[in-house]
Amino acid sequence: MPRMTVNERPLEFDMDPETPLLWALRDAANLTGTKYGCGNGDCGACMVLVDGAALRSCLITLEEAEGRFITTIEGLSRDRSHPVQQALVAEQAIQCGFCTPGIAMAAANLIQRNAAPSEAEIKEAIPNLCRCGVYPRLVSAIERAGRVVRRQETISAAPAPGISAEDAAAAVPALRGRPRSTGQ
Ligand code: FES
Ligand code: FES
Repeated sequence: MPRMTVNERPLEFDMDPETPLLWALRDAANLTGTKYGCGNGDCGACMVLVDGAALRSCLITLEEAEGRFITTIEGLSRDRSHPVQQALVAEQAIQCGFCTPGIAMAAANLIQRNAAPSEAEIKEAIPNLCRCGVYPRLVSAIERAGRVVRRQETISAAPAPGISAEDAAAAVPALRGRPRSTGQ
């Protein structure tokens, strides 16, 4: 059974190793912040960090994720205090929000590598599709997140979520016991 670390927690998935990581995260780990858009690698709604790189989880099998460190939107920050999350909210770069988790993960990866990206670099690093068309505000938000990382400005954190990811998972009886935690 594939084992990996998800949001700093060791997990063992009692699932077919060929299962896409996206399915396992959403349906077994109840980490539904990661979205299923196209399932074909086109939209980026399913982006997560795999060993620090922003990858489409619909294209990665559990077998391929074995032993890796996965970070989902739920693990980016516990209180929505990550500069990218703050800037997306502050710049109102969110409409329906379906694309937002994938964009936040791609943006977090970019900002970590390059805290002062150009518009071209932002567009290249964040190819995610947004059916609401937030692209202009998205560029402003990522530039602003970079300024926060460079300590040129601060943004007040958005309100903390009303429920933790763990409590949310515990509240879904059908998912109880899956995946199995191998530690903690
Ligand atoms: S759901 Fe993975 S790229 Fe669209
Ligand atoms: S905000 Fe609706 S899809 Fe991007």
